Amino acid sequence: MIKFRHSFSSGKKIPSFQLLCLVYLIFLTIVTSHQEAENVYQKRDYYTLSNTDIKTLVELDPPQWDSVTDGHLGKLLIPRASGSENNTLVQNYISSVFTNLGWHEEKTPFRGTTPIGEIDFTNLIYTYDPDAPRKIILAAHFDSKWFPDFPANQFIGATDSAAPVAMILHLAEFLTPLLNNRKERILSGLGILKNDFDEEEIAETTIQIVLFDGEEAFKDWTATDSIYGARHLAELWSKTYLKSTHPLNKNKKRKFEPEPTILNTIDHLILLDLLGNKHSMIYSYFRETDWLHSKLIKIDQNLKNQNLIEIEKDENEWFSKIKLRGGIGDDHLPFLHRGVSILHIISNPFPSVWHTLGDDSTILSLPALRRWNRILRIFTCEYLGLTPNLIISTTTTTTNRLQSKKTIDELVSLKKIILTDLYDIILFGWTDDSNLRIVDDNK
Ligand SMILES: *[C@@H]1O[C@H](CO)[C@@H](O)[C@H](O)[C@H]1NC(C)=O
Ligand SMILES: [Zn+2]
Repeated sequence: MIKFRHSFSSGKKIPSFQLLCLVYLIFLTIVTSHQEAENVYQKRDYYTLSNTDIKTLVELDPPQWDSVTDGHLGKLLIPRASGSENNTLVQNYISSVFTNLGWHEEKTPFRGTTPIGEIDFTNLIYTYDPDAPRKIILAAHFDSKWFPDFPANQFIGATDSAAPVAMILHLAEFLTPLLNNRKERILSGLGILKNDFDEEEIAETTIQIVLFDGEEAFKDWTATDSIYGARHLAELWSKTYLKSTHPLNKNKKRKFEPEPTILNTIDHLILLDLLGNKHSMIYSYFRETDWLHSKLIKIDQNLKNQNLIEIEKDENEWFSKIKLRGGIGDDHLPFLHRGVSILHIISNPFPSVWHTLGDDSTILSLPALRRWNRILRIFTCEYLGLTPNLIISTTTTTTNRLQSKKTIDELVSLKKIILTDLYDIILFGWTDDSNLRIVDDNK
């Protein structure tokens, strides 16, 4: 596979644009929603909070800010390209937030070869309960895109991805007391939710935050100039085997099954990118997580029905029930190609200011940030079985019919969609990690 890749990149015949489009169109099939089909992929219980619980959760909001730069976001809105001093400042800030919350921290520093030379990258990983046998991951990238010259080098990347990182920090802060509460109840042998619910499954699932460095390409987005941090981490985890005492090892049926790695402990990796402005359009890209995407739609609709979010004028629906297959190039790819279940929460089309100086605090919307914060809180509370109080609640169901139409032309015109990456993956297989190596900092 590598051989093919090399002959391809060393200037053999480059496939025609038409062929790329063809490959792209084959994989970008649009599938309409089938609720039953979604449930086939739901491998675990999901607890739906009552309207009362949802209202209580929303009322637990921290004080409302007057400006998008209040709260964590203000600390992240600086140029923070990988390898820069500002990037380190942002890392230190993020680290201080999680240290205060008492979460477990892991950093994975490494040096990567980029088109502009050797760059030091560091992924940041925070886990509420590092001993839990399984987890759901929320992820975003904290680096901003590097530009060589002034004024472009003042690029902030407010939606890309300062706002998603801030959402995740606020989420972790919000969840910590609820997680502490849940832990106490589990330790004292009390039930978490209600009888017919698989509490063990919930009790053994923790939440992990992964903040990637080096998502951005230094020159043009290619398989080797992009997602440096994600490629490094997926590779590292795929070679980190679980202890023999881990449930995944103990439950192994056959002797010669592949040894489980850290990647096998991930229920889902949920990646946020390009969010925080008032327009968003979120599609579902993966069959395995269509059901989670449907939960997001339901939560958003429920918040709307209860008047718990502010919808700005001339704003479209944020979620589409249309399922897009094919996907967008981003940090999830090296995990996806190693079998991890992915939910990609990315605005499609990208914000109009994408990769321009306009992607600064002025494009962000306070109502949109609040709306995302609330959606994410309710989603993670439901997923992890966290209730605002310990009163047993009844489940609710909401139905809605959101429809949004995008023409293939509109979709094809999106810049970052992985035409060439898809071509590479299909014909040559993922991935060439040879330009990444681990920095040995034990010396
Ligand atoms: C670092 O961030 C500050 C804002 O805090 C900004 O003025 C400065 O230009 C940034 N440095 C670089 C090299 O981008
Ligand atoms: Zn970007």
